[in-house]
Amino acid sequence: MAETAFLSDAEFEAYRKLIYLESGIHFTQTNRSILEGRLKERLRQNGAATPKAYFDLVSANKEEKNVFLDAITTNLTRFFRNQPHFDALERFVLPELTALKKPSGDFTVRIWSAGCSTGEEPYSIAMLLSEKLSPGFKYEIVASDLSLKSLITAKEGFYDKTRVVGVPDAYLKKYFDHNESGYRIKDGLKTSIRFDYHNLKNISPWRNFDIVFCRNVLIYFDEAAQTAVVNHFWNSMTSKSFLYIGHSESLFGMNTKFEFVKTQWTTLYKKWI
Ligand SMILES: C[S@@+](CC[C@H](N)C(=O)[O-])C[C@H]1O[C@@H](n2cnc3c(N)ncnc32)[C@H](O)[C@@H]1O
Repeated sequence: MAETAFLSDAEFEAYRKLIYLESGIHFTQTNRSILEGRLKERLRQNGAATPKAYFDLVSANKEEKNVFLDAITTNLTRFFRNQPHFDALERFVLPELTALKKPSGDFTVRIWSAGCSTGEEPYSIAMLLSEKLSPGFKYEIVASDLSLKSLITAKEGFYDKTRVVGVPDAYLKKYFDHNESGYRIKDGLKTSIRFDYHNLKNISPWRNFDIVFCRNVLIYFDEAAQTAVVNHFWNSMTSKSFLYIGHSESLFGMNTKFEFVKTQWTTLYKKWI
């Protein structure tokens, strides 16, 4: 006999709509079981009696809505995820940007890690820039997510040894303190990043980024939400700037003004006006 679904079709539809409207995250019948599993866990923690009772709570209470959205996100990440992106950053993007910036006397490279999860992405960028940025230049990184749980881990900067796989030994020694329980990012690197809550569904007030990383985030949105997010990025970026998306993501066929860039290491996008 088939197992009774945790959500009725009407309940699934109501949750699906709410999540989409609030975050752009798009659940379908194909990934319905992921939503049901995460929802079940949240109900267990919260003590709500039924999915309907929890839906009413989430609809009425902004704080619980944020906890709920956090609970349904996928936060999988790792240090130096997709190394060719970092090779292109070092060998193509940074040389282009610094050559452009020097004559105008602007010696700061501004980066946004949008959907930074638990911090591995912005810390990887910070390590690379600390090592490879041309002398005289400095960098600023803003790292944002809607998952408050992930942001707490990111700000703390503490990772157990299984999570620092992929960090070169020299960087582990230089940028982490190590004890038997794990690896802690040193304060110098930590303070070079500003972690902040931001829901990509909303327009950000942030401007003037030279590079935006939004990797493995758009994959959870449908095309309309992806287009809206990417066009918000456009407004947050300088006239000559670069956009990284995940290696299995694409802006192909999307109504945006970003240009496709093919480097010998990877592909990315640029705003060039
Ligand atoms: C799979 S992780 C990717 C982390 C990192 N960028 C990487 O590539 O390793 C996706 C992140 O996007 C965040 N996210 C999903 N929807 C979001 C939204 N509407 N606003 C902000 N962050 C969002 C999730 O909370 C999650 O931490």
